[in-house]
Amino acid sequence: MRLRNKPWSKKLIEENPDYILLDPTDMAGRWQERFEKQHPIQLELGSGKGQFIIGMAQMYPEINFIAMEVQEGAIAFILRSQVELQLPNLQLVLANGRKLDEYFAENELDKMFLNFSDPWPKTRHEKRRLTYKDFLKQYKKVVKNDGYLQFKTDNQGLFEYSLASLNNFGMKYQRISLDLHNNEELMETNIQTEYEQKFTKKGQRIYYLNAQF
Ligand SMILES: C[S@@+](CC[C@H](N)C(=O)[O-])C[C@H]1O[C@@H](n2cnc3c(N)ncnc32)[C@H](O)[C@@H]1O
Repeated sequence: MRLRNKPWSKKLIEENPDYILLDPTDMAGRWQERFEKQHPIQLELGSGKGQFIIGMAQMYPEINFIAMEVQEGAIAFILRSQVELQLPNLQLVLANGRKLDEYFAENELDKMFLNFSDPWPKTRHEKRRLTYKDFLKQYKKVVKNDGYLQFKTDNQGLFEYSLASLNNFGMKYQRISLDLHNNEELMETNIQTEYEQKFTKKGQRIYYLNAQF
């Protein structure tokens, strides 16, 4: 998904430094300072327009959430919602998740979410998949021991690849569903992402996994 930068996004970002960070390099070990209350911190990498992370922040006020997104044209939508909602437990970061260990201290996060990450189906693009081992190494550093990685996708190829990649990396599966929307128990707490709604409407299955580092 490539979104054009909106004419209003730069100004909105400049006007709201309390909600969005453009350079998180000096934040490692200090993320709690960005939130009103000290709570466990959970990160979504590749938040798109933010439907999931906003829903999570509303549903779980006792958790602090960070939305990290590399596209200005996408994160501007999350910021627009946040300016209206003023959720005390939501912070935004315009940055690339490749450098997570520069942005977070070891064990600073409780959990990470990857939702409908770009599948990069060509073998030569394997390193760009957010479940490639180099990314997993970064996640493991910043997520606490026994913390979780939750992943949802409509893409069977990416899901199968990710199962193998996480397994080879030594992660332990806590839950796997090959049809999330027909799993009553998981659906009780499932917050749908924008892509999830789009693909579900088309009749596509949603794959889900939750694994421990
Ligand atoms: C296919 S969209 C899915 C958006 C949203 N998670 C959803 O499910 O509706 C993937 C998003 O991940 C973002 N993304 C991809 N690679 C990223 C990276 N390395 N760091 C941060 N964001 C990334 C893209 O810019 C895009 O907005």
